Amino acid sequence: MFTWGVATSSYQIEGAADIDGRGPSIWDTFSRIPGAIANGDNGDIACDHYHRYNEDLDLMKWLGVNAYRFSIAWPRVLPDGTGALNKKGVDFYNRLIDGALERGIEPWPTLYHWDLPQALQDRGGWNSRASADWFAEYAHQMAELFGDRVKNWMTINEPFCSAWLGHLTGIMAPGIKDLQTAINASHHLLLGHGRAVQAIRDARKDVKVGIVLNFTPAIPATDSPEDRRAAVLADGFDNRWFADPVYRGSYPQDIVEGFGKEVPILAGDLESISTPLDFLGMNFYFRQTVAHDPIVKPLPYKQVMPKVERTGMGWEIHAPTFEELILRMTNEYGVKEIYITENGSAWDDEVINGEINDQNRISYLERHLDAMFAAKAKGAPVKGYFAWSLMDNFEWAYGYAKRFGIVYVDYKTQKRIPKKSAYYYRDRIKN
Ligand code: FCB
Repeated sequence: MFTWGVATSSYQIEGAADIDGRGPSIWDTFSRIPGAIANGDNGDIACDHYHRYNEDLDLMKWLGVNAYRFSIAWPRVLPDGTGALNKKGVDFYNRLIDGALERGIEPWPTLYHWDLPQALQDRGGWNSRASADWFAEYAHQMAELFGDRVKNWMTINEPFCSAWLGHLTGIMAPGIKDLQTAINASHHLLLGHGRAVQAIRDARKDVKVGIVLNFTPAIPATDSPEDRRAAVLADGFDNRWFADPVYRGSYPQDIVEGFGKEVPILAGDLESISTPLDFLGMNFYFRQTVAHDPIVKPLPYKQVMPKVERTGMGWEIHAPTFEELILRMTNEYGVKEIYITENGSAWDDEVINGEINDQNRISYLERHLDAMFAAKAKGAPVKGYFAWSLMDNFEWAYGYAKRFGIVYVDYKTQKRIPKKSAYYYRDRIKN
C-alpha cells in the first residue's frame, strides 16, 4: 500500500510553549531576538495544535491520509535535554499517537525538527561532540516509550538547515555565523543521527528508521566552465555534504577543500553515520540557478534569479528536477526505499466567501506528484508521499507570513478551513 501523508513539525504548530512543563528551545530564544523573525512572530501559540490535535487528526481522517509525519519536541519530553522525562509532555504524544491510530493513521515521528532544548545549547549545542550522545539517549528513550505503536522513525530533519542556516548564515536558531562551528554542527548532527539509528534499534527490533534530507539541485547560470563548477559546488554544499557521509561514508572532498577547515572526525564516526538505513526521507521544494562569484565565502558562487515560474517564497518551480533527483538517489546512491517526507508550496492565499481557491498550489502539487510517479514508473523505490503541510504554520524566519498549508489557519480564531488543494489531495488519494 502506498503511504499517503501530511507533514508538520512541533515548533511550527504546537504552541503551548510553556505549558505542562515544556522547557524552552533554541527557537523560543531565537524568536525573541529583535529582527530575527518577520513581524516579530514566535511559536508561543502557533496553531495551538497541543490543544486542538483531535480536530487536526479529524481533518487528516477527512483527507484520507494513512500516515501523519509530525515531530516530537525534545524540550517538551526532556525539558533539560537529558535526565528526567516530563510526564505531561510524554502523555501528549501518547494521546496524539493513539488518536492517530484510532483513525487508521500511522504515526511517523521525526525526533529532531530543529527545536533543540535551550539547556543543551547552553552546554554547547551541536557544536559540542556530546550532542551526538544527548541525541542518541533521547532517541532511545522515545523508542522505548512509543515503539510499541510507532513503527517508522525519522532521526534528524534537514541537517542542512540546522547546520548551515543555524550556524553559518545565522538566519535560523541558534543564529550563529561561523564556518568552523557550522562544520562541527553538521558532523555532530550526522553522528547523532547514526548513533540514534543504533539506539532506536537497540530499544525496538521491529521498527524502521531513516533520516530526512532536503535536496536542492543546482544548474549553472551559463555554460561557462566557471558557472558549471559553481553548480557542482552548490550541489556539494547543499546535497552531497549530507548524502555522501550517510550513503558513502565520506564527506565530498571538493567541499572539504573549498572550506579549508578540519571536519572533527574521530575513528568510527563515518561508520556510525553510514549505518544502513531502512529508508531515506527526501524533502524537495525547488531547484536553484548559480553563478561563479570569486568574492563569496566560503565557496565562490552565488544564487542568481532568472525570470522563471516561482512560488510565494520566490522558489523556482521545476517538477522535472524532482523526477531526476529521485532517480539520482536511486541509481547513484543505491537507495532502496524512498519516502517523500516533504514537498509543497507557499502562496498568498486569500479567503473569499469562506473559500480558498489555491489553484497555484494545486498545480504545484499535481506536477510534483506526477513527477514522483514518473520516477517510480522508471524503477525508483518510492513508497510514500507526505504533503507539506497539513496546515499553515510558523514558517521559521518568515513567521506566519508564508502559508504552506493545504488547510488554511485563521490565527485570530484558530479556525481551520480546507483549501481547494486539500480537496484535490483528498481526491487524488481516493483514486
Ligand atoms: C523545510 C522544513 C519545514 C518547512 C518547509 C517549508 O525546509 O523542513 O519545516 O519550513 O521547509
